[in-house]
Amino acid sequence: MGLHIGSIAPDFEQDSSTGRIAFHEWLGSSWGILFSHPKDFTPVCTTELGRAANLKPEFDKRNIKMIAVSVDDAASHQRWIPDIEETQNAHMNFPILADADRKVATLYDMIHPEASDTLTVRSVFIIDASKKIRAIITYPASTGRNFTEILRVIDSLQLTDSHKVATPVDWKDGDDVVIVPALQDAAEIAQRFPKGHKVLRPYLRMTPQPNK
Ligand code: BEZ
Repeated sequence: MGLHIGSIAPDFEQDSSTGRIAFHEWLGSSWGILFSHPKDFTPVCTTELGRAANLKPEFDKRNIKMIAVSVDDAASHQRWIPDIEETQNAHMNFPILADADRKVATLYDMIHPEASDTLTVRSVFIIDASKKIRAIITYPASTGRNFTEILRVIDSLQLTDSHKVATPVDWKDGDDVVIVPALQDAAEIAQRFPKGHKVLRPYLRMTPQPNK
């Protein structure tokens, strides 16, 4: 069965650049992002891993652990990491799973045979503290991901978990949000959104971001 938003992220044990990892245990009570790379020593992946490492403080602030996966072994990852660090001016500060047997790639359906029989696509799984998959993003191997966008999605998920709002087009942290259509009680709206709200249409009500 395919993995969907709301599925429990499959657990696994696999080697990594930092040793053996039992995934759920490693996640602990944190959120996580698991993201795949087609192969070691490839140019786009090198840039992505450097960018992700440099953004680690932003992921830490949001209680997110990062973990990458590439279908090469740990010795290959160890040879690749200095290239990432030197060319991207980064310090690799999270593990890269060593998925030579494709265990993780298969479990998470990261190999799309119509694209390649052996390389993974660029998958991103955002996983919450209860191990539920909250977002799945998929790019082809030729398109590097935008890690600022991944942080934006995480901000939206964490905000909308704790407030009765949704985030509109191109929203970023600090922008106005929409009040969820299910919330209709005027007293509750006034209590939840003391900064006020604008009714553009009965179903489209904007309010300043409530946790700012
Ligand atoms: C890359 O990471 O640079 C890459 C990997 C596979 C195909 C194309 C690009």
